[in-house]
Parts: sequence; C-alpha cells; structure tokens
Amino acid sequence: MQTQMLSNNQADIKTAVDFLKAGELVAFPTETVYGLGADATNEEAVKKVFLAKGRPSDNPLIVTVSKDIEIADYAKLNDNFIKLKEAFWPGPLTMILPMKDDSFSKSVTGGLQTVAFRMPANQLTLDVISQLKKPIVGPSANSSGKPSPTTADHVFHDMNQKIAAILNDGPTEVGVESTVVDLSNETPVILRPGKLTAKDLADVLGVDVLDATSNISLPSGQIPKAPGMKYRHYAPDKQVIMFDRLDIDRLNEVLTTDDVVMALDETLAKIKVTSDHSWSLGKDVNSAAEALFSGLRYYDDIFDVNTIYVEVMPNESVGAAYNNRLAKAASNQYLQ
Ligand code: TXA
Ligand code: MG
Repeated sequence: MQTQMLSNNQADIKTAVDFLKAGELVAFPTETVYGLGADATNEEAVKKVFLAKGRPSDNPLIVTVSKDIEIADYAKLNDNFIKLKEAFWPGPLTMILPMKDDSFSKSVTGGLQTVAFRMPANQLTLDVISQLKKPIVGPSANSSGKPSPTTADHVFHDMNQKIAAILNDGPTEVGVESTVVDLSNETPVILRPGKLTAKDLADVLGVDVLDATSNISLPSGQIPKAPGMKYRHYAPDKQVIMFDRLDIDRLNEVLTTDDVVMALDETLAKIKVTSDHSWSLGKDVNSAAEALFSGLRYYDDIFDVNTIYVEVMPNESVGAAYNNRLAKAASNQYLQ
C-alpha cells in the first residue's frame, strides 16, 4: 500500500480521522517534528506503530491531545501540571503524570504507571484529535534511531508503504522534539531538553526544576528516566563530528573533498568548503535547531560523503536541546 499524502483542507482532515478510526497509522505535523499517530485507546493500532518504526517495545509513547480530550479521565492531575498547561499548551512541552486505573495499554506506557501527555501547537493535528474524540499516540515519525522528521518528505522516506497517510503541513518550526518533564513526583524533573528550558518552567512554577540531562544530582529515591534516551539516536549512518567555531583553523586543515560541513552562515564564510558541501544552519540557535535534522538526513543519503562536521551551539535556550541531539548523532565525537 502506497502511503497517501494529505494536505491542509477539511476533506483531507476527515480522511486522516477515518484512517485513525479504522486502526490505521497517520503521520501528523507538530511545531517540533512530525509524529506517527494511532488511536491511543486501540491496542492493535498502537502495536503497528512499534512495527512501522522498528521501536523497542519497552520505550513508552507520548499521548497527544487537543483541548477536547479530558486528561483527568486518564491520569491524576496536579498543580504543577495545571500551571504549566496554562502557560505553555499548546506548545513544545510533554508532561508525565501518574496514570489512572490502567487507562492505557502496556504498549503505550511500556509497562510504566505513568503517561506522557503533549498538546502540540498545530491546528491540523488538534482538529484531527478533536474530530476523532480520542487521544493519539505520537512518537516521532522516523525509523527508530534515525533523526526525527521535520518535513512530510522525511516521513515519506522512512514510512512509505508502512503507514496509511501523512498529513502535510510544511516544514516544522522548532526542529527538535519537545521538552519532556516528569511531574509524577513533587520535584519536576526534565528528562529530555527541548526549546522550553528548566528555567522557563521554574519561572512559571516558582519552584526548582531539576534537569536530569545536565549533571545535577537528584534527590535520593528519584531515578527518573525517559526510556527512549538510552538508545543510540538521531544518528545517520555517516560519521558525524562536532566542532566549535573557535576551532575553524583546525577544521580547515583536516577537511577533505569527501567531507561536508553544517554551520551558521557566519562560520561557513570562514571555512574552505564549496557550497554543495555545506549546509547552512542560518543565523542563530533557532534556525540551527530547525535545520539540524534536515541536514543530517540529506547528507546521509549522499553516497560519496565521508564525514559530516557540525557546529556546536551556545548552550542557551534551544541551543541546549540542539547540542543534546547533535552529541547523540556524533556519539560524542569532537574534532581533535
Ligand atoms: O516533540 C515531540 O515530543 C515529538 C512530537 C511528534 O510530538 N514526539 C516525540 O516522541 O519525540 P518520541 O516517542 O520520539 O519521544 C518521547 C520520549 C521518549 O524518549 C520516551 O522514552 C519518553 O518520551 N517517554 C514517554 N513516556 C514516558 C514516561 N511515561 N516516562 C518517561 N519517559 C517517557
Ligand atoms: Mg523519537
């Protein structure tokens, strides 16, 4: 079955809803990356998501909602959740809550007693969920281990003939996945960095928010983990090496004609590389986050590329999330 490309109109939204009702998979746009949707209350449909992605079965899925879904039916709400929801939803924030009465199958939760919820800032996707009247699971719509898809074409590349349809709403804006925060204990803990930082959340909550992805030690008894973060991730098959703009001279020494460079425009201007061997990350951390996965995917498919050198960003705002994904893609390898 060829995967159908759907676009931004009422008839196509209805087609997407009908596929989901029938237990089929539909990829959907969000402001971060494209997701792979299935009715979260239909276990057979959810199982197909793991097959299509080649995802390990112990890795829980995010449950994607719109304002018409009653989260209290599925999970135990708390004050931190209510405050963050008011401040940031719809938006690039995933919140983990204790589950109520086994409301989701083991396939969704990976056997955990908690559930991750997200309300993305994309009107097409919110309309689909509201018309379906059910939450949908929403892992990133890439083959497991590959960089997440930021365009419908990326999804098609990984998922053609494996899913019913892709709802195309153009390229995503943020480019890296949502911030995941665990709210199931008293102290909120960030399990995956995203555009919204620990400070952004702490400013709203008025309490400390720990970042388990930096090296701060956690209160004893709290061992939070996003199971998905332990796997090799975001990784093209090509060798990826990180470099700092202070090391441009060294990069110019080691670059061969089989290598390519991904960097900010200002940095690229100082590197001895032709335009077809370079990928612009634009002018700042925001454009860099937006363009990172596209560049990695693009060069991964070009046969004669040897090494992809990618510039590290300052650790501010979405830069921390960018560096986190890049370090995984590069298996932590820096330019020597
Ligand atoms: O921006 C995003 O969050 C995208 C878009 C499509 O919404 N989705 C996404 O989903 O990145 P996924 O499945 O690729 O990443 C979800 C992460 C995984 O690392 C998973 O292990 C973790 O969230 N996770 C899900 N449920 C969890 C839970 N109950 N406890 C801890 N971690 C959880
Ligand atoms: Mg993913």
